[in-house]
Amino acid sequence: CGIVGLVGKEAKEIVLNGLTKLEYRGYDSAGIYLNDLAGNEYLTKTTGRIQNLKEQMQTKEQGLVGIGHTRWATHGEPTDNNAHPQFDQTKRFYMVHNGVIENYQEIKDKYLKNIIFKSNTDTEVMVQLISKIVQEQELDTFSALKQALNLIRGSYAILLIDNKYPDHIYIAKNKSPLMLGLGHNFNIIASDALSVLDQTKTFIDIQDGEVGDITKNNYKLETLDGKAVAHQSYQVNIDPNAASKGTYEFYMLKEICEQPTVLHHLAQTYLDQAGTPQVDPKITTGLSRADRIYIFAAGTSYHAGLVGKEIIEELTEIPTEVAFASEAGYHFPILSQHPFFIFLSQSGETADSRVVLQEAIKRKIPCLTLTNVPNSTLAREANYAMSLEAGPEIAVASTKAYIAQITVEAILAKAVGEKLAKKRAKDFLLKENLALAAEGIEQVLSTQDKIAQLAQKYLVSSRNAFYIGRGIDYPVALEAALKLKEVSYIQTEGFAAAELKHGTISLIEPGTPVIALINDPLTADLMRGNIQEVIARGAKVITIASQSLAKANDDIVLTNLNYYLSPLISVVAAQLFAYYTSKIKGLDVDKPRNLAKSVTVE
Ligand code: G6P
Repeated sequence: CGIVGLVGKEAKEIVLNGLTKLEYRGYDSAGIYLNDLAGNEYLTKTTGRIQNLKEQMQTKEQGLVGIGHTRWATHGEPTDNNAHPQFDQTKRFYMVHNGVIENYQEIKDKYLKNIIFKSNTDTEVMVQLISKIVQEQELDTFSALKQALNLIRGSYAILLIDNKYPDHIYIAKNKSPLMLGLGHNFNIIASDALSVLDQTKTFIDIQDGEVGDITKNNYKLETLDGKAVAHQSYQVNIDPNAASKGTYEFYMLKEICEQPTVLHHLAQTYLDQAGTPQVDPKITTGLSRADRIYIFAAGTSYHAGLVGKEIIEELTEIPTEVAFASEAGYHFPILSQHPFFIFLSQSGETADSRVVLQEAIKRKIPCLTLTNVPNSTLAREANYAMSLEAGPEIAVASTKAYIAQITVEAILAKAVGEKLAKKRAKDFLLKENLALAAEGIEQVLSTQDKIAQLAQKYLVSSRNAFYIGRGIDYPVALEAALKLKEVSYIQTEGFAAAELKHGTISLIEPGTPVIALINDPLTADLMRGNIQEVIARGAKVITIASQSLAKANDDIVLTNLNYYLSPLISVVAAQLFAYYTSKIKGLDVDKPRNLAKSVTVE
């Protein structure tokens, strides 16, 4: 979920614009509360997108203070009643919340027995509790908020308005991101800085366990037990235009097309003229001392981790494991003597990854976060962080962050391998290959029409599909399948090509589309055999092959590249298949159903 609050100036447009930019965090319902500080208040909530919300609002609904929310449902299905802001039964308190309250049932049973709830949300439990504490104990709202939060277990970023004192926004944070933007005669609070960058560039990160009382010219921050806290503010220097769609119909295509630039930019940032990696020596030293590297991630980042493992092991000879953060958090891997943890996360906010990071901090394991958002929670809390330098990624389906993650992993692997005097690391022509990869991506981009035609012919009306590959093409097949299913809703499996015959081949029917990736010289011939096996069962096969391995009839031929970096090009073809299939089906490519770009709940 995403939240925005503003106090001190006309809030409606600014809050709605901020929410639109936060839609990547969820978009199944939305709502806004406005108060004009002259006795009028307006609450509008609806299922669907911010656009729906805008359409439902009347011009008279304005306010000098406002809080808004765009939701990705956790407790309670997406309905108008379950949309935020939630309010108490006296209609005095209004709250927006991102997170999950674990003990909401217990709180309900213990303290709120006689209250009739209007929603199924855990958020309403919180706002009713605060209201009850204020009434029964005659406490001011700020104190009641602290008292309520001391009873609550879970994750939250909260904005609260008390309509008796509507020129204040009360805030609280635990585990879910929240930042305070400082303005002249106004203050703004949001889930991320990017959503309100057109208002201010000066921010304060609210920390876990902190509460605040924000007015137009002031703010007060405290811990839950009432100790005052002060944080240094900082400037965010991102060009707000970097997050605009430009002339593209969808962000996903814009971001796919930006990938050559991302590779050039990474080479400039992390490699010197001679191609030697320029990485913080503390990071290289830390990694070179490790006897095992553990990579934790979710979704697409996990797939980038699988490719990274191959590159790291090849160049450093340090055994590397990759795990889903959501699993590792509660079933911690058995550790070697000198482990080193790498967290891969586009957003730097994924709650599942943070659970592992917190445990690692407790155990004093050195941690490095690779993220596209340098000031994100995972970046701040790890010992070290490196930026993915991909620029804001807005489409829910990740594209350019994936290739940036693989590239930064390769840079790290080369740096560490060279430090360990590994010949293979020295001989690894990273700079040259990144330049070639950028050209290779341009070449794939030039085949867009063909990819769109193939998508139309084989994928658009298919119920299911397969991606198959061997060697490094296998993790790419997993990512390619994820991309296609995310945005086109076609059930797609990524498979190690030879494994298909050990069971899953039973799913192949006449006409089933199978997309084959052929970039591994060692297994290319075997791969051709695997392709024949599915053709024999009626599959329609699309082939994507490196030039040196290509045959006359291959559909998409890719520029030759170092085997370990070949995913940088091959995945782009898969991204385009996903994009065009979704677009031709008339779906919302950038915001597929049920998904959110950044999932800040476990
Ligand atoms: C969400 C997104 C995925 C993303 C995953 C991990 O589920 O929908 O696209 O890969 O989170 O996100 P992260 O920001 O940690 O890379």
